[in-house]
Amino acid sequence: MSTPIITLRPSGWTFAAQDGETLLRAAERAGIELASSCRNGTCRACICRLAPDSRGAAVRYLVDWPGLSVDEKRDGYLLPCVAVAEEDVAIEQRLARRMPA
Ligand code: FES
Repeated sequence: MSTPIITLRPSGWTFAAQDGETLLRAAERAGIELASSCRNGTCRACICRLAPDSRGAAVRYLVDWPGLSVDEKRDGYLLPCVAVAEEDVAIEQRLARRMPA
C-alpha cells in the first residue's frame, strides 16, 4: 500500500501517513499540532475540511458514526482524529501549529 502524503493549507506543510494511521496521529508524528480533544470522533474539536481539489478523495473512518452529518461529509468536512487517508489529500486547517522541538 502506498503512503499517503497529507498537505495542510494554507501553510503548505506536508507529512506522510502510515498505513491505518489517523490524520491527527500522522501530523503529531511529524511535529504538527492540530486542534483536538476527545480523539474518538465525537466532540468535533478537530473538524476541518478537505481542500477543494481534494474533495472526493478516499478517506475512511475508524469509527462507524463519526460526529459528522451526511451533508458535512458530502461538503468535504472531516474529523482528523478518526480519519484515515487512502490517498494523497490536502486539508484546510488554519490552526495547525509546529510543536516545539
Ligand atoms: S478530537 Fe474530538 S472529534 Fe476529533
